[in-house]
Amino acid sequence: MPNLFSDSIIDEIRDKCNIAEVISQYIPLKQAGRNFKALCPFHEEKTPSFVVSPGKGIFHCFGCNIGGNVFNFIMKHERLEFPEVVRMLAQKANVRLPSRPAFGREQKDTPDLFRINDVACSWYQANLNKEKSRPALEYLKKRLFTAKAVLDFKLGFAPADNGLLNFMRLKGFQEGLLEKAGLILRREGGSYYDRFKQRLIFPIFDSRARVIGFGGRVLDNSLPKYMNSPETPVYKKGNHLYGLNFAKEEIKRQDFCIIVEGYIDLLTVYQSGIRNVAASLGTALTPQQIRLLRRYTRNVVMVFDADRAGELASLRSLDLLIEEEMGVKVVGLPGDEDPDSFLRKFGKKSFWEKVTQGLDLFDYKLNLLTRNYDLDTVEGKVGVASHMLPTIRRVQNAIRRSGYVKRLAQEFSKGEKSLGEEWILAELKKVKKDFEHYAKEGLAQANVVVNRPAEEMLLRILLEDETAVEEIERHLAPEDFQDLRIREAMRVAYRLHARGMSLSAAKLITYLEGEDAAHLISRLSSGACKFIDRSKSLNDCVGRIKEDNLKNRLNKLQREIKLAQSWGHTENLTKLVGKYNQLVKSRSRQG
Ligand code: GTP
Ligand code: MN
Repeated sequence: MPNLFSDSIIDEIRDKCNIAEVISQYIPLKQAGRNFKALCPFHEEKTPSFVVSPGKGIFHCFGCNIGGNVFNFIMKHERLEFPEVVRMLAQKANVRLPSRPAFGREQKDTPDLFRINDVACSWYQANLNKEKSRPALEYLKKRLFTAKAVLDFKLGFAPADNGLLNFMRLKGFQEGLLEKAGLILRREGGSYYDRFKQRLIFPIFDSRARVIGFGGRVLDNSLPKYMNSPETPVYKKGNHLYGLNFAKEEIKRQDFCIIVEGYIDLLTVYQSGIRNVAASLGTALTPQQIRLLRRYTRNVVMVFDADRAGELASLRSLDLLIEEEMGVKVVGLPGDEDPDSFLRKFGKKSFWEKVTQGLDLFDYKLNLLTRNYDLDTVEGKVGVASHMLPTIRRVQNAIRRSGYVKRLAQEFSKGEKSLGEEWILAELKKVKKDFEHYAKEGLAQANVVVNRPAEEMLLRILLEDETAVEEIERHLAPEDFQDLRIREAMRVAYRLHARGMSLSAAKLITYLEGEDAAHLISRLSSGACKFIDRSKSLNDCVGRIKEDNLKNRLNKLQREIKLAQSWGHTENLTKLVGKYNQLVKSRSRQG
C-alpha cells in the first residue's frame, strides 16, 4: 500500500481502532470465545465462516478466503482507496493527521481544483439549454442520446467565446488556478482564453464521481475531433477509466467489465442498459487502470473497433492485463463498426451476444496470426511464435502457461511437418533473446517444486511468535520461498524487523502490495495452531525448503544442459555441467 502517511500514524490508527467494533458497524457480529463470527459480507453463505479476531487485529473468511486488517475491510466493503480509509479511521480513532500528508506542495490546490471543475461542469451543463447551444442539442439528438443519459453524464456545451473564463472570473476564481485546472490557456502576451470552444463537453469523473477533467468533441468533421484536459494535480491520464463511477456496482455483479474505446461508445452502451462498461478513451490500459478495475473484477472483455481489433499492436498492450492475472477476452466488431454504431444498427441483444462470445486473448491472437502467416512454412511458424510467446510468457500460472505452449505446438503440427514443443523452444532461442529467457525461465518455472506446507508453516510460526523472524532469515532469503505470496510476506517481515519494528499479522498486512498475500496471512493467523516444539518445526521446514530449492536448481540445470546439448553449445555445456556437479557435491556434503 502506498505510504502517504507515516508508519507510526498508521500503526496508531490501527491500534486504536478495535477491528470488531469497526466491522460490527457494517455487519452483525456474534461473540465466539475471544473471536467474533458473522456471515461473510463478501460472498453468499448460510453458515458463518467470517471470523474477526480483535486480539490479532484481523478478519478472515474461511469460505471465500478473503481477509486482512481493519483497513482492508473498509477498503473492500466501501471500495475506498487506502488513504481515504486512513482519513476515515483517523477521525473515528481521534488521531490527528498532519494537515498535509507527505505528498508535496502540489496537493495544496486540490480542493480548489475539484471545486473549479464542479462549477465549470455546471456552467457547461447549463449552456445546453441556451439558444446558442442549439447545434449541440441537435447533435446529441442526432446521436440519439436520451435526456436521462445527458443529465446523468452531465454533458454540456462550450460556446465559441471565452464564456467560461468570464463566468469564472465573475465567480472570483483566479486565472492561475483556472489555468492549473486546464480550463484556460495563456497567450504569449499574457491574456487568457478558454481551452474548450464550440465543443460538446464530456466531464470526466473519478471513481468517486468527482469531476476531474473534461473531454470536448467538435460538432462537425473538423480536427482534432476530441480534446481533453491536460494532466492536472487531480487528473492523471492513465489513472482513471471513463464511466467507472457509474459502472462499478454492475461490474462487480457481473464479475466482468466491458472496455470500449470512446466517450460516445460508453454512453451508447450504458444507455442501452448494459452497465458494466468503462472506456479507455482511445489509449492502451495502464497498470493503474488495471489495478482500479481489479477492485471490482478480474475479468475484462475488450471490445475493439474492427480496425483496431485487427492490429497486433492493440493486442500487444493486453499482455499487461495477463501479467496482472486478469482474464482477458477480446471482441472484434465487424465491418467498420464501433460499439456505438454496432448497437444502433444491430441492437442490444446482438451486442450482448458479441460480448459474451468474446474469445480468450490467446485464441483471438492466434486466430488473427494464422490468418496472416502461412503455418506451412517455417518462417510462418516463427512469425506466429514471435507474437504468441511474449503473451504466454506473462501468464503467471505455470500450468496454464505450459498448456499454452502445448496448444501452440499443436497448431504448429498441423502442417506437413509435425513440429513439437521442443522445436518451438529451440526456434525461440534463435528468434530472440527474449525467448531464450523464456525457454529457460518459463520452462524452469513450470517445473518448480513448491513446498507450500513447509512455507506456510514457517509463516505461521512467524505470525505466532515474531521473534522467530531472525532464525528464519538466517537460513532463508525471500527468494528461497517459491510461493510468491509468502515470498512477499517474508520480504516485508525482514524489512520491518531490520527497521526495529514489531511484526503482527495486522501490521504485516498493511505493508503488503498484493491482496492475495493479505488473504493468506489472515487465514494462517486466524486458524488455531499450537506448536508442540516450535524450534523443531522451524528447523524441519527450513530443511525441507532448502532441499527442495536445491532440487529445483538441479532440475533447472538439467534442463539447461539438455537444451545446450541439443543446440550443440559446447562452451555453455561445459560450464553448466561443472555447476551441476558442484551442486551435487555440496548436497552430499550437507546430507
Ligand atoms: P465518434 O466519432 O463521435 O463516434 O467518437 P468515437 O469515440 O467513436 O471516436 P474514435 O473511435 O475516433 O475515438 C475513440 C476515442 O479516442 C475517443 O472517444 C477519444 O477519447 C479518443 N480520441 C479520438 N480522437 C481523438 C483526438 O483527436 N484527440 C484526443 N485527445 N483523443 C481522441
Ligand atoms: Mn464512434
